[in-house]
Amino acid sequence: MRVLGIETSCDETAAAVVTDAREVLSNVVHQQLAEHKPFAGVVPEVAARAHLDQVGRVVAAALARSGVGWDGIDAVAATAGPGLIGGVLVGVMTAKALAAARGLPFVAVNHLEAHALTARLTDGVPFPYLLLLVSGGHCQLLIVEDVGRYRRLGTTIDDAVGEAFDKTAKMLGLGYPGGPAVEQAARTGDPGRFDLPRPMRGRAGCDFSFSGLKTRVRMAIEALPQGPLQDADVADLCASFQNAVADVLAERTDRAIGMFKAAHPAGRTLVVAGGVAANQAIRARLQVLAADRGLAFAAPAPALCTDNGAMVAWAGVERLRLGLTDGLDFRPRPRWPLDPDAPKAAGAGVKA
Ligand code: KG4
Ligand code: ZN
Repeated sequence: MRVLGIETSCDETAAAVVTDAREVLSNVVHQQLAEHKPFAGVVPEVAARAHLDQVGRVVAAALARSGVGWDGIDAVAATAGPGLIGGVLVGVMTAKALAAARGLPFVAVNHLEAHALTARLTDGVPFPYLLLLVSGGHCQLLIVEDVGRYRRLGTTIDDAVGEAFDKTAKMLGLGYPGGPAVEQAARTGDPGRFDLPRPMRGRAGCDFSFSGLKTRVRMAIEALPQGPLQDADVADLCASFQNAVADVLAERTDRAIGMFKAAHPAGRTLVVAGGVAANQAIRARLQVLAADRGLAFAAPAPALCTDNGAMVAWAGVERLRLGLTDGLDFRPRPRWPLDPDAPKAAGAGVKA
């Protein structure tokens, strides 16, 4: 079984062909760097237009590189939410048109489910597993019980963790995309120089908060001597910030492991996914935590953590094997929580 997957929910225009034997036959990603650089962030309208410009070329390249023609494709999957709706519409309309023209099933994929299931493509992780999903729009702890069956244990009450990386990068003049730039700068920095808070640490449950941390980064920058920022200051702040984030993620995940083991005594794996999971320092911290708690650890290769088409194609494979296809009247969803029954996190600004 081979599925073509299309991803357009944020600033990557991506397409891939993946098989049910867990092979990635092609994986083409166009990152909209030049388009968003002048704004030091993703502008939804600019992103939607760029997706429209690129999607045909990216899909054609994914098909060509896969080495199989249309006759070898069994379904077309696309991210149908959550995300920036203009971009999502471009991907969904493209996938529906291709499916209709080729007489193939269409699979509407939840972007979060695509991140959540990637570790099954890369590592064949069995259900159930504990997932830390860390991206530009989300920060959640979930028990992944099955395709389409998620139990959310915690979420952020304000900013997503990737957003905190991006805002920190912007304040330090590191530009866009922020996460990789902060990680790079942190390599030579002293993580102990700035005393930054660990929001929510020690609190019951496993919700997150990052807006206070961001504010403290801004205050630390303002407390530095006037004038242009020195490279050493930037490096030390990045290292201190990244260390605070890693501490919080590890402490909250540690709590979630307790809840996971209570709910699923046979559960064996901790998985981290989403763009921030590309961060080596965070991966290393979680790996140590998993080992301490007797769990296996899986983190997809960095290129499969940040947005890509392979994860969407794989989610398509998982759904198609269960006969879960969608009609061409499927309406894209700007909000689409994985666990709609999850209790609301305490606090304002809670994301889906
Ligand atoms: O999953 P993703 O590609 O898109 C969303 O679904 O949001 O995640 C993008 C986020 C951005 O905030 C980006 O700064 C962050 O992931 N990110 C990183 C790293 N690479 C990407 N954050 C920290 N360290 C990285 N190496
Ligand atoms: Zn994503």
